[in-house]
Amino acid sequence: MIKFEKSSFVISTKDLNYIFRVLPTGQLEHLYFGNKLVDQNYEAFQSKITAGSGSTIDYVEGENTVALDLMTLEYSGIGKGDYRISPIEIKMPDGTFVNDFVYDSYQILDGVIESKDLPISRANDQKVKSLVIKLIDRKFKIELKMIYTTFFNSNVIARRIIISNNDDKEIVIRKIMSMMIDFPESDYDLITFDGGWIKESHKTKRPLSIGTYINDSVTGNSSNRHNPGIILAKKDAHKDYGVCVGINLVYSGNHYEAVQISNHGLMRVMNGINPHCFEWPLKKGESFETPESVMSYSNQGFNTLSQSFHEFINTHVTPRQFQNVSRPIVLNSWEAFFFDFNQRKLEALAKKASKLGVELFVLDDGWFGSRNDDHQSLGDYDVNKKKLPGGLNGLSDHIHKMGMKFGLWFEPEMVNPKSKLYESHPEYAVKIEGRTPTLGRNQLVLDLCNQEVREYIFEQIKEVLDHARVDFVKWDMNRHMTDMYSSSVGNQGMFFHRYILGLYEILNKITKEYPNLMIETCSSGGNRFDLGMLYYSPQIWASDNTDPIERLKIQEGLSYLYPQSSISAHVSLAPHAQTLRKTPLSTRFNVASFGILGYELDLKYISPIEKKEIKKQIELYKTYRDVFQYGTYYRFNPKDEHQKVWQVSLGNTHILGNFQTLSDASPNLETLKLKNLESDETYEIESIGQSMSISRFGHLISHALPIKINPYGSIMRLISKYKQLDNATESFVASGEALKHGFRLKQQFMGTGYNDQTRILGDYGSQIYIAKKI
Ligand code: DGJ
Repeated sequence: MIKFEKSSFVISTKDLNYIFRVLPTGQLEHLYFGNKLVDQNYEAFQSKITAGSGSTIDYVEGENTVALDLMTLEYSGIGKGDYRISPIEIKMPDGTFVNDFVYDSYQILDGVIESKDLPISRANDQKVKSLVIKLIDRKFKIELKMIYTTFFNSNVIARRIIISNNDDKEIVIRKIMSMMIDFPESDYDLITFDGGWIKESHKTKRPLSIGTYINDSVTGNSSNRHNPGIILAKKDAHKDYGVCVGINLVYSGNHYEAVQISNHGLMRVMNGINPHCFEWPLKKGESFETPESVMSYSNQGFNTLSQSFHEFINTHVTPRQFQNVSRPIVLNSWEAFFFDFNQRKLEALAKKASKLGVELFVLDDGWFGSRNDDHQSLGDYDVNKKKLPGGLNGLSDHIHKMGMKFGLWFEPEMVNPKSKLYESHPEYAVKIEGRTPTLGRNQLVLDLCNQEVREYIFEQIKEVLDHARVDFVKWDMNRHMTDMYSSSVGNQGMFFHRYILGLYEILNKITKEYPNLMIETCSSGGNRFDLGMLYYSPQIWASDNTDPIERLKIQEGLSYLYPQSSISAHVSLAPHAQTLRKTPLSTRFNVASFGILGYELDLKYISPIEKKEIKKQIELYKTYRDVFQYGTYYRFNPKDEHQKVWQVSLGNTHILGNFQTLSDASPNLETLKLKNLESDETYEIESIGQSMSISRFGHLISHALPIKINPYGSIMRLISKYKQLDNATESFVASGEALKHGFRLKQQFMGTGYNDQTRILGDYGSQIYIAKKI
């Protein structure tokens, strides 16, 4: 899996090779990242410089075959003729910024090389090998260990760096990337996943041209602005064709990804901790370790790339005890009650939920101190006995008796100035002497750089978890950082990273103490959706936006990098609280089912007919839960921008979701295709029966009925509660080849008439199809 021959290192996964060589001058030249090669000779990929170029600098005077600026390197420094963006910037012992790291030695080891304080992808008894390459600076006793790990079956290669200072004098690191690669060509598009609160992970594609593009976060966490995962795709790449390279970072703090097209048409890519406000001094004998960067390659388009990342995360990132474990169907109290609840209301909601088949009841914000709105009590996790006279235990017992698990919300990293914690320990909050601290959602960040604060947080959570039966924790984090200062760090350039190390320390302690506790992380929705958090929490609340039409963008964006088993998705009420969009219940479920299904609504407002529908949805999800959560995932090229089509496949079952965000007037007769079927086998395919509220037809209904009723009146409302219009279903048998070729759908409603064979989608309509091999 890893070999060194003829000065070249060859790292292999199941389908890929990653190759670089040691140049005679000691630098590492990147040669190849692509599909497996049969060749043993990699000359084809070497830079062939014969006479330098104009103003370039030769690394060795008089020898014009090594001009660093024109070469594809594995890592580079400063001050030796490479004028592209550098992955490393260090104030050296002599006060200069010049560094020149060259090859010293290598080691090949089994498994992964553990980190002392960062989450590192796990070997988990799979085929995993690591390569450690030691580079040393030509002048000072400073060494870089470049660690490469190959996750053979997932087609993922990880990289990271450990820098050690063995020089007598202190050095200061100002930038140190986890990895860098140069590619010989630059005809790529850069794809990033951008947004903000309630619009996370929207895919943005831009062509690259000469210059530098930065994708980063400076908010203190990985952020909803730009996810740390990026994709570089050849111009002609699409879902199932073409070359693309995906790169992500196992880190939850400020990240930085730079892509540069040089003046000589080479493409340089790097990722790591954001150098923004970063400085890390290293005394003699000290080391610094970067987070792990992970990458994969596909020449069969984005679906294959995503599938590699999904497999990798499910096998090597997710905590072992939750690997391939079914994620429970949740009812979350937040959108049902916000802060306005008491034991009676919660129990009534829980009772309704359990009757529908919900498996986990999560009590969200508002259960402690005097937290009746978001102005107070964060930090005081003593139960509010006015709301919950029976305490958490009383509620938890009640929920368990109904046959459900019990989950609880915390926001451990924060404090409201209006709280007992802040009154007794104002020094626990992140702020600067002499400046008024800036609040975000009326709260301050606790100083996780401080050991005492970390212990306090751990003890507080432990106190709750040891005294109530809690099976699940929703770990929230609701503000960006400001006023960054901690008295616990000498150099404030260490603040951001120390905070994240502090967070990982707490999460490590909690997950060790309560190994069976399932943690869902959240940060105002998807403000911290990253591999660092997934290392501790198998699932993440993807967005506070539960509008299915918005979720199509959010969940599809996330699907490029993260598996469905990690994406928490809930059905809520319509019209939607943030978009006022009125979507059918079927679409709310159809979208959420391509993730970890949950419900987040007051079931009191659900009509009898909708209750029946939800019950059926939950039954269906339970039947196919493994396919939805762990199936191989595919996106299709849609017919236009108003459609999305997703598929999940596991064993002999294939589920297709067809989503229509806007209807066309007089729509064309449509065709859908399935992927991943065996051509010669026979499949039974059927669509899931779903109905539509009569009220959706408004005045049209009067034309269909013998009696005239007011389309907006109380009779209409009453009928709608108990009667819905059936949508056409499709059910037939066909060969795998036929279904891959494309199957024709029944005509959509277009105002020319309706019967039970008419497919009614309209705006925001969708349908799920299940194909099974027979
Ligand atoms: C933000 C989260 O994203 C919501 O789901 C909810 O938990 C609130 N915080 C509670 O304050």
